[in-house]
Amino acid sequence: MLVLKVKDHEELSERAAGVIADEIRKKQDIVLGLATGETPLGVYRSLIRMHEEEGLDFSKVTTFNLDEYVGLSPTHKESYHYFMHENLFKHINMDPRNVYIPDGMVKDISAYCEWYEKKITELGGIDIQILGIGRDGHIGFNEPGSSLGSRTRIKTLSKETIEDNARFFWGVDNVPRTAITMGIQTIIEAKLIILLASGKRKAEIVRLAIEGPVSSRVPASIIQFHRKAAVIIDQEAASLLTREYSIWGEGEEIYLHL
Ligand code: PGA
Repeated sequence: MLVLKVKDHEELSERAAGVIADEIRKKQDIVLGLATGETPLGVYRSLIRMHEEEGLDFSKVTTFNLDEYVGLSPTHKESYHYFMHENLFKHINMDPRNVYIPDGMVKDISAYCEWYEKKITELGGIDIQILGIGRDGHIGFNEPGSSLGSRTRIKTLSKETIEDNARFFWGVDNVPRTAITMGIQTIIEAKLIILLASGKRKAEIVRLAIEGPVSSRVPASIIQFHRKAAVIIDQEAASLLTREYSIWGEGEEIYLHL
């Protein structure tokens, strides 16, 4: 696991997008694992800019999103389908047939989750997985206590996650209680993982995930076991770390290739 410090959210976004773009240029049919939330928004903005200004080509790229709320249709403004369409897909030349986001409206959830896992395997697995981190340490919607060996399944959201997301739903009572999420094992099988964290409110959980023990109490800590994972954090998110880590400089990208 490589920890890389950058100045702020803008630099974090540019750096992460740069790694993704380099890999797309080398392997056009790359499989990306994507996340929602505020943190990766800047990465998506940078990728859109590269598509518009540099012709970065997404026509053969496949994407799998981490999660979706159960009960929200793709047209619901707080669904992750809607988020991804508005913040990325409608601005780039993705083939809609190559976009996979868990379906929150599906009837047989467990059969669907099995299908989602199979699809990832069939397409050769995820090359680069982008992750945010929740204040409770979740990755995807793998809340504290999630099995480290878990696969795509339905999960009940934690109190902290519901509170954090209440601002999008006009109050705590309207936040869905469950979601479909890739499992921790699904995530950890990606060839390269890039975990992003920005801002003071993430500083404590970043410290626990990077410097604490690997534990299902902090699901993100699993990436300590991954042989090719980078944690890209800005100064505020890094502010409670007790060990020294490198500031992103020249040559760091070498490690971040597939
Ligand atoms: P955020 O969410 O990027 O909006 O902080 C991260 C997460 O909950 O995974």
